[in-house]
Amino acid sequence: MSEQGFVVTPWEVTGVVDYERLIRDFGTQPISDKLGRRLEKVLGSASYLIRRRIFFSHRDLDLILDDYDHGRGFFLYTGRGPSGPMHIGHILSFYFTKWLQDKFQVNVYIQITDDEKFLEEKRNLSYQDTQNWAKENILDIIAAGFDPDRTFILQDTEFLGHAYPLVLKVARRINFSVVRAVFGFTNETNVGMLFYPSIQIIPSFLEKKRCLIPSAIDQDPYWRIQRDVAAPLGYQKAAAIHSKFLPPLTGFQDKMSSSKPETAIFLSDDDNTVRNKVYRYAFSGGQATIEEHRKLGGNPDIDVPFQWLYMFFEPGDSPIERIRADYRSGRMLTGELKDILIERITTFLHEHRARREKAADLVETFKREGALARTIWEMDFRDR
Ligand code: TYM
Repeated sequence: MSEQGFVVTPWEVTGVVDYERLIRDFGTQPISDKLGRRLEKVLGSASYLIRRRIFFSHRDLDLILDDYDHGRGFFLYTGRGPSGPMHIGHILSFYFTKWLQDKFQVNVYIQITDDEKFLEEKRNLSYQDTQNWAKENILDIIAAGFDPDRTFILQDTEFLGHAYPLVLKVARRINFSVVRAVFGFTNETNVGMLFYPSIQIIPSFLEKKRCLIPSAIDQDPYWRIQRDVAAPLGYQKAAAIHSKFLPPLTGFQDKMSSSKPETAIFLSDDDNTVRNKVYRYAFSGGQATIEEHRKLGGNPDIDVPFQWLYMFFEPGDSPIERIRADYRSGRMLTGELKDILIERITTFLHEHRARREKAADLVETFKREGALARTIWEMDFRDR
C-alpha cells in the first residue's frame, strides 16, 4: 500500500480511493461545471452520470466537443479484459459508451484483451479460459445495445496480426523505464506484459480523428503513454473520460472481484442470488435497530445500496434525492432501501439478459473481421 493508503493501477485497486488525489497523481482534469454542462446538453437522459460526477475526470474532453461542434467528428474506444464473468461495475462504461454513441452517432471500437489476461500470471488462466471468457463477455457487451453498423469488436488474438506493423511502430517508442515507472513492472514481470501497453494503445489510432476513451480511472496510465507517442507517429492524442469505481457490495475498501463473489453482482446472477447478496452482504449506513434508525436516521454517504442507486440504477434526480432524505431522516429503513435496489438490479438484469439472448447472432457482424483487416491495412501507417 502506498503512503496515501490506496493503490490504483490497471491490475489492482486496494484501499479506499481518494479521487481528488488521483486526479493530481495521474495529471488528469476534473470535469468543470462549464464542461459538464456542455456535455449534459448533448447527452440528455444519460447526463446524470456527468451531473453526479460518476464520470468525474477527463483529458481533452473539451477538444472532443469542439471537434464535434465543428463537424470534424471523433470516435469512441473502450474495452474489456476477459478474465471471468462480468459484473455490474464492468458494464457501466459500456452502457455509458453506448449512450454516447446514440447521442453523437459515432463509431465505437471495443478491444477484448484476451492476450493481456493470458499474460497476467496471477490470474493463472489457460489460453482456452481466456477464449471462453472472451466469448461470454462479448455477448454481454453486445447486450448493452451498441449500433451494429458503427461498432467494431476487436479481439486481440484475432485482429492484431493485421495491425502488427502499427504495433511495432508504437512499441519502438516505449522504453522499459517508462513502463516500469507508469505500471510498476519489476524484474519478475514477464516480457509479454512489458510489451502489452503498446497493444492497448493501438485502437486509439484506428481513425484519423480524435479518440475519446470512456473507462474507470484505472485504465488512464495507458492513455498517458498514448499521448506521448501519438504525435511523433502522426496521430492525435487520445481524449479520455474517467469514472469512479462502483464500490464492492461489502463496502468501499478495494474493488469488486470475481474471486470474491460476495463483493459483486454478476450479470448472470439470478433473482434469488441478487436478493441474497444484497440482504446478506451489502454494507449498510443504517443503525443497528429499527428504533435507533427511526431516531437517528441512516448515513447514505457510506451506504452501498444508496451509492449503487446514485451511481447507476436511479437516473432520476427527484427520486434519488427523496430516497436520500427519507433514509437520512430515518423514515426509510435499511431493508426498504435494499428492496428498492434489488428491484432495480433485477429489472436491469432481466432486460440485459433478454438482449444477450439475441446477441449470439450478432457476434460476426460486430467482429466483421475481413472488413476490419482491410480498414487497418488500407491505413497509411506503413509509410510512417
Ligand atoms: P477490465 O476488464 O478490467 O475492465 C473493463 C472496464 O470496466 C471498468 N471497471 C469498472 N468501472 C466501474 N466500477 C468498477 N468497479 C469497475 N471495475 C472495472 C474498467 O475501467 C474498464 O473500463 N485492460 C482493460 C481492457 C481494455 C480497455 C481498453 C478498457 C483494453 N482497452 C480501453 C477501457 C478502455 C481491462 O482489463 O479492463
